[in-house]
Amino acid sequence: KDMEKGTYPHYMIKEIDEQPAVIRRLLQNYTGKDGKLATDTAIAEALNAADRLYIVACGTSYHAGLVGKHLLEKIAGIPTEVHISSEFSYNMPLLSKKPLFIFISQSGETADSRAVLVKVKKLGYPTLTMTNVEGSTLYREADYKMLLYAGPEIAVASTKAYTAMIAVFSVMAATLATAKGLTLGFDPVHEMSLAALAMEQMIDEKAQLQEIARDYLSITRNAFYIGRGLDYYVCMEAALKLKEVSYIQAEGFAGGELKHGTIALIEDGTPVLAFATQEAVNDHIRGNVQEVAARGAHTCVISMKDVTDRPGDSIILPKVHEYFTPLVCAVPLQLIAYYAALQNECDVDKPRNLAKSVTVE
Ligand code: G6P
Repeated sequence: KDMEKGTYPHYMIKEIDEQPAVIRRLLQNYTGKDGKLATDTAIAEALNAADRLYIVACGTSYHAGLVGKHLLEKIAGIPTEVHISSEFSYNMPLLSKKPLFIFISQSGETADSRAVLVKVKKLGYPTLTMTNVEGSTLYREADYKMLLYAGPEIAVASTKAYTAMIAVFSVMAATLATAKGLTLGFDPVHEMSLAALAMEQMIDEKAQLQEIARDYLSITRNAFYIGRGLDYYVCMEAALKLKEVSYIQAEGFAGGELKHGTIALIEDGTPVLAFATQEAVNDHIRGNVQEVAARGAHTCVISMKDVTDRPGDSIILPKVHEYFTPLVCAVPLQLIAYYAALQNECDVDKPRNLAKSVTVE
């Protein structure tokens, strides 16, 4: 087992480090002879035939689905909903005329997600599974399949599968846009390669994330992540990762929503970490940071070079296309959680009460 970890002390850090390579391999596997990103023709046709996409998933995969919705709607112009499997199963929303169901599951074995798959298949709707495990239950039972090519993920807290899922959604969105005759206005392979490079740079500079964990999270029981738009979805995953591995109570909030209640929790020294990578909402998220700072919060801003960065920001990410910021943000959010877990002397690869794949509803 130690052999597989090589020189790494934990699987989690090994899997964080593997992400740029995973994205590059995935891009290769989804690039056609013409050098363009593409899914199988049958998948492109199924996507194009749908009037609405329903993404169904749990945990980190659900958070990847939220980013996926943004990409599918913005890039391919298809209405997309994202649902938590265990909710969808027993509280099905009204469906469109021609839905396509997309199941996202690292393991391909999650019982909550399978329960939905079984139900919608019975209703006769088309299904697609995005998974890391070829031959898994959700892989076998869906009409269409897309693999993550992330390699085995051993640490219970999901890292490389999350970024691989976002990358596969990008492939899906680009393929659908092409099938619909839309012009993308950017080269997704080029932009995602730049994102992989930026991820690599963040990994090389991991010492600064260790400092953030030390400065912000070493003597706290709670922490907040805030962001807007894509950054909000990133914050949800950041909070989950921190909770899972360090046991610090954390929540991810839409920046503007804080003042509608949660700001009551801000005390002197409460850590509030903001992701600010989206130019269109930069002024607004900065305003939210000031609101909490004025109430004593210990604020940390993670921004993007030449797009949203301002003097005093704690971490400045390399510049990437606005759609692909979640790929880059994933690295600091995972590393902050990892180092916070080490500080708290937690079993980072096997957090208490959690299982890698949950096969009961
Ligand atoms: C478990 C894991 C999570 C994971 C979730 C969904 O709760 O601990 O890390 O995100 O299941 O798993 P899946 O394999 O369906 O992506």
